Amino acid sequence: MSTVFNFTFVPWFRAVAPYIHKFRHQTFVVGVPGEAIAAGKLPNLVQDLALIQSMGVRVVLVHGFRPQVDEQLRAKGHAARFHSGIRITDPVALDCAQEAAGQLRFEIEAAFSMGLPNTPMAGAKVRVISGNFITARPVGIVDGVDFQHSGLVRKVDVAGIKGALDMGALVLLSPFGFSLTGEAFNLTMEEVATSVAVALQADKLIFVTEIPGIRVRPFDPPGEDNPIDTELSLADAQAILAQAPTPTQPTEPAFYLQHCVRACLGGVERSHIIPFAVDGSLLLEVYVHDGIGTMVVDEKLENLREATPDDVGGILQLIEPFERDGTLVKRSRTEIERDIANYTIIEHDGVIFGCAALYPYPEAKTGEMAALTVAPQAQGQGDGERLLKRIEQRARLMGLQSIFVLTTRTMHWFLKRGFQPVSPDWLPEARKRKYNWDRRSQVLVKRLS
Ligand SMILES: CC(C)(COP(=O)(O)OP(=O)(O)OC[C@H]1O[C@@H](n2cnc3c(N)ncnc32)[C@H](O)[C@@H]1OP(=O)(O)O)[C@@H](O)C(=O)NCCC(=O)NCCS
Repeated sequence: MSTVFNFTFVPWFRAVAPYIHKFRHQTFVVGVPGEAIAAGKLPNLVQDLALIQSMGVRVVLVHGFRPQVDEQLRAKGHAARFHSGIRITDPVALDCAQEAAGQLRFEIEAAFSMGLPNTPMAGAKVRVISGNFITARPVGIVDGVDFQHSGLVRKVDVAGIKGALDMGALVLLSPFGFSLTGEAFNLTMEEVATSVAVALQADKLIFVTEIPGIRVRPFDPPGEDNPIDTELSLADAQAILAQAPTPTQPTEPAFYLQHCVRACLGGVERSHIIPFAVDGSLLLEVYVHDGIGTMVVDEKLENLREATPDDVGGILQLIEPFERDGTLVKRSRTEIERDIANYTIIEHDGVIFGCAALYPYPEAKTGEMAALTVAPQAQGQGDGERLLKRIEQRARLMGLQSIFVLTTRTMHWFLKRGFQPVSPDWLPEARKRKYNWDRRSQVLVKRLS
């Protein structure tokens, strides 16, 4: 085995591990439009969903069937009719929808049943459960247009879905619902996925769509200067919706975004819009720091705060690789537990990405900033600087006039930020006694104005 592989594989696996822990036992509702299936993306999507499920995530998959229903209608020589982006389901369209749903459900179940040799899920078995989990009501007559058999979700059978998930099954839903009188209604994938996510209070709602996400300037053409906005606050998402006309096509920015906002308002903490065109987009969005598409959240998730005893494990995990390569001095769990009140952390999506500690020496009116660390995958985005600022602020509040660091490898980072080298003799007496002369760390001081 090549050593290059070791150096790439091991850090990669360690970087993913916190997400695997975090998402175990969480519930994700994943909406896949019929377009993704028509584009031949089903086999890879199924593999990724099976992989996510095997890591302990409870998955509800909702499929759409817009192009498949249109195809059936064409075959019958019947025109597809829409109003405000919603299908008008006449009896012929209802027949077509039932046929398309039956066929797609069959295809999806077959894909999950494959032994999947030579795939990441070789040997795994995914049990799929579908059922009459959705009660529907008619859209009715709107603006004088009778939507006939087009419906909206009236109720979600939460206990039924949770029961199936508890059995370890993946729940598969078609955009269909039944009224209490047994009448069938054609729903949209987006409406079913959102209603189910809200009813279950899912941890994530993910739309795997024909668009790559929402751009920084949502209504301007794509380009290097108009990239995908990886994280949108609820307020920003609402502002975009306020400017956008009522969407009728899935490629319009507001089409999926309106459902993400509804989910967010309904208590689903995170909703995502990711592209099906990119193979593995689900894995990239869920298990990588910035993801690949757009995530809508109730507030900015990146959070700078003082640490609590619950953070000890996360801090240890973050600093351990830097202790091993000698960048940081080794600290034991007991030591960190004892000093936890000295730590400040940055967390993103519940995972700790950065930390720093302040050890005050009030008698010398100075304090040591120690264990400043930002996870390798999050470096270079200003988190180190933010942690430094917070430590400076904490030091000022304690009435300290300077902070100092001991470093062997990061001298230039500190010099650039106003620190100056001094001799170890400068250190407060209590710290000087602990100075490790073998390590020959450089002492750098920053005066606080
Ligand atoms: C030092 C560290 C905390 C900086 O975190 P960060 O979030 O990447 O910092 P910022 O984004 O605020 O700053 C990034 C800048 O610092 C530079 N930088 C990163 N590590 C550096 C180092 N060891 N020496 C000099 N500059 C460094 C980057 O090149 C980048 O420069 P630029 O702004 O000119 O592009 C991070 O690199 C780290 O955790 N290093 C390992 C642990 C460590 O050395 N801690 C200090 C112990 S005393």
